[in-house]
Amino acid sequence: MAFSASAAMALIAIIYRITVNLPDMPFSSNLKNKTSTDFNDSAQQVVDAVNFLIKPIPGFHNVTVKEFRYQQVVGTMVIMDILSTNTHDIESFKKLFEDSIQEGHIGWSHINKIYPKFV
Ligand SMILES: *[C@@H]1O[C@H](CO)[C@@H](O)[C@H](O)[C@H]1NC(C)=O
Ligand SMILES: *[C@@H]1O[C@H](CO)[C@@H](O)[C@H](O)[C@H]1NC(C)=O
Ligand SMILES: *[C@@H]1O[C@H](CO)[C@@H](O)[C@H](O)[C@H]1NC(C)=O
Repeated sequence: MAFSASAAMALIAIIYRITVNLPDMPFSSNLKNKTSTDFNDSAQQVVDAVNFLIKPIPGFHNVTVKEFRYQQVVGTMVIMDILSTNTHDIESFKKLFEDSIQEGHIGWSHINKIYPKFV
Protein backbone atom coordinates (compact mmCIF):
# COMPACT_ATOMS: atom_id res chain seq x y z
CA MET A 1 0.00 0.00 0.00
CA ALA A 2 1.35 3.38 -0.97
CA PHE A 3 0.50 6.86 0.15
CA SER A 4 0.99 9.81 -2.14
CA ALA A 5 3.23 12.56 -0.84
CA SER A 6 0.33 14.97 -0.49
CA ALA A 7 -1.85 12.50 1.39
CA ALA A 8 1.02 11.68 3.73
CA MET A 9 1.64 15.37 4.24
CA ALA A 10 -2.00 16.12 4.94
CA LEU A 11 -1.85 13.78 7.92
CA ILE A 12 1.11 15.49 9.51
CA ALA A 13 0.56 19.12 8.66
CA ILE A 14 -1.15 21.92 10.50
CA ILE A 15 -2.79 24.92 8.91
CA TYR A 16 -2.81 28.13 10.89
CA ARG A 17 -5.30 30.75 9.78
CA ILE A 18 -3.99 34.11 10.90
CA THR A 19 -5.42 37.61 10.59
CA VAL A 20 -3.04 40.52 10.88
CA ASN A 21 -3.75 44.25 10.86
CA LEU A 22 -1.51 46.24 8.55
CA PRO A 23 -2.27 49.89 9.33
CA ASP A 24 0.70 51.03 7.22
CA MET A 25 -0.52 49.30 4.10
CA PRO A 26 -2.81 51.52 2.01
CA PHE A 27 -5.98 49.79 0.89
CA SER A 28 -7.19 49.96 -2.67
CA SER A 29 -10.02 48.12 -4.39
CA ASN A 30 -7.35 46.27 -6.40
CA LEU A 31 -6.48 44.38 -3.21
CA LYS A 32 -9.83 42.61 -3.58
CA ASN A 33 -8.78 41.37 -7.00
CA LYS A 34 -6.54 38.34 -6.62
CA THR A 35 -5.25 38.58 -10.17
CA SER A 36 -4.20 42.24 -9.89
CA THR A 37 -0.60 43.41 -9.63
CA ASP A 38 -1.44 45.25 -6.39
CA PHE A 39 -2.74 42.06 -4.80
CA ASN A 40 0.27 40.10 -5.96
CA ASP A 41 2.79 42.72 -4.75
CA SER A 42 1.14 43.15 -1.36
CA ALA A 43 0.62 39.41 -0.88
CA GLN A 44 4.24 38.77 -1.79
CA GLN A 45 5.38 41.32 0.83
CA VAL A 46 3.33 39.53 3.47
CA VAL A 47 4.55 36.09 2.38
CA ASP A 48 8.20 37.22 2.42
CA ALA A 49 7.85 38.82 5.86
CA VAL A 50 6.12 35.79 7.38
CA ASN A 51 8.56 33.36 5.78
CA PHE A 52 11.37 35.37 7.35
CA LEU A 53 9.62 35.33 10.73
CA ILE A 54 9.01 31.56 10.80
CA LYS A 55 12.33 30.52 9.28
CA PRO A 56 13.72 29.45 12.70
CA ILE A 57 10.96 26.82 13.01
CA PRO A 58 12.09 23.53 11.50
CA GLY A 59 9.93 21.89 8.84
CA PHE A 60 8.24 22.82 5.58
CA HIS A 61 6.02 25.91 5.60
CA ASN A 62 3.79 27.38 2.92
CA VAL A 63 2.28 30.83 3.43
CA THR A 64 -0.78 31.67 1.32
CA VAL A 65 -2.58 35.01 1.40
CA LYS A 66 -6.33 34.37 1.26
CA GLU A 67 -7.60 37.94 1.14
CA PHE A 68 -7.18 41.57 2.11
CA ARG A 69 -9.96 43.42 3.89
CA TYR A 70 -10.55 46.97 4.84
CA GLN A 71 -11.81 47.80 8.30
CA GLN A 72 -12.65 51.38 9.18
CA VAL A 73 -10.83 51.47 12.52
CA VAL A 74 -7.74 49.35 11.86
CA GLY A 75 -7.35 49.85 8.11
CA THR A 76 -6.00 47.06 5.94
CA MET A 77 -6.15 43.52 7.28
CA VAL A 78 -4.72 40.40 5.72
CA ILE A 79 -5.98 36.86 6.18
CA MET A 80 -3.48 34.12 5.50
CA ASP A 81 -3.05 30.39 5.86
CA ILE A 82 0.25 28.98 6.97
CA LEU A 83 0.74 25.31 6.31
CA SER A 84 3.40 23.70 8.46
CA THR A 85 4.65 20.13 8.62
CA ASN A 86 5.92 20.91 12.08
CA THR A 87 3.17 19.70 14.41
CA HIS A 88 5.27 19.87 17.58
CA ASP A 89 6.01 23.57 17.76
CA ILE A 90 2.55 25.15 17.98
CA GLU A 91 3.68 27.13 21.02
CA SER A 92 6.79 28.38 19.19
CA PHE A 93 4.56 29.51 16.35
CA LYS A 94 2.30 31.43 18.68
CA LYS A 95 5.25 32.94 20.49
CA LEU A 96 6.89 34.19 17.29
CA PHE A 97 3.71 36.02 16.34
CA GLU A 98 3.11 37.30 19.86
CA ASP A 99 6.68 38.60 20.06
CA SER A 100 6.30 40.39 16.76
CA ILE A 101 3.12 42.09 18.02
CA GLN A 102 5.07 43.18 21.06
CA GLU A 103 7.77 44.59 18.80
CA GLY A 104 5.07 46.09 16.57
CA HIS A 105 6.22 44.64 13.27
CA ILE A 106 6.97 41.55 11.25
CA GLY A 107 10.21 42.87 9.85
CA TRP A 108 8.54 45.47 7.67
CA SER A 109 5.20 46.73 8.84
CA HIS A 110 3.36 47.73 11.98
CA ILE A 111 0.89 45.37 13.51
CA ASN A 112 -1.74 46.21 16.07
CA LYS A 113 -3.41 42.91 16.64
CA ILE A 114 -3.20 39.35 15.58
CA TYR A 115 -5.78 36.62 15.94
CA PRO A 116 -4.20 33.21 15.54
CA LYS A 117 -6.82 30.56 14.93
CA PHE A 118 -6.06 26.89 14.64
CA VAL A 119 -7.95 24.77 12.15
C1 LIG B 1 -8.51 42.05 -11.88
O1 LIG B 1 -7.21 42.35 -12.32
C2 LIG B 1 -6.92 41.87 -13.61
C3 LIG B 1 -5.45 42.16 -13.91
O2 LIG B 1 -5.15 43.51 -13.73
C4 LIG B 1 -7.86 42.57 -14.60
O3 LIG B 1 -7.62 42.06 -15.91
C5 LIG B 1 -9.30 42.29 -14.20
O4 LIG B 1 -10.18 43.00 -15.06
C6 LIG B 1 -9.55 42.72 -12.79
N1 LIG B 1 -10.89 42.31 -12.36
C7 LIG B 1 -11.72 43.16 -11.77
C8 LIG B 1 -13.05 42.59 -11.35
O5 LIG B 1 -11.44 44.34 -11.56
C1 LIG C 1 3.11 37.00 -7.77
O1 LIG C 1 3.31 36.71 -9.13
C2 LIG C 1 4.50 35.96 -9.38
C3 LIG C 1 4.66 35.84 -10.88
O2 LIG C 1 3.47 35.40 -11.49
C4 LIG C 1 4.35 34.59 -8.70
O3 LIG C 1 5.50 33.82 -8.92
C5 LIG C 1 4.15 34.79 -7.22
O4 LIG C 1 3.92 33.55 -6.58
C6 LIG C 1 2.96 35.71 -6.97
N1 LIG C 1 2.93 35.99 -5.54
C7 LIG C 1 1.86 35.76 -4.80
C8 LIG C 1 2.00 36.08 -3.34
O5 LIG C 1 0.83 35.30 -5.23
C1 LIG D 1 1.53 26.52 -1.36
O1 LIG D 1 0.11 26.50 -1.28
C2 LIG D 1 -0.52 26.99 -2.46
C3 LIG D 1 -2.00 27.06 -2.18
O2 LIG D 1 -2.46 25.89 -1.56
C4 LIG D 1 -0.18 26.09 -3.62
O3 LIG D 1 -0.79 26.57 -4.80
C5 LIG D 1 1.34 26.05 -3.80
O4 LIG D 1 1.68 25.16 -4.81
C6 LIG D 1 2.02 25.66 -2.50
N1 LIG D 1 3.47 25.83 -2.66
C7 LIG D 1 4.33 24.87 -2.34
C8 LIG D 1 5.76 25.21 -2.53
O5 LIG D 1 3.95 23.79 -1.91
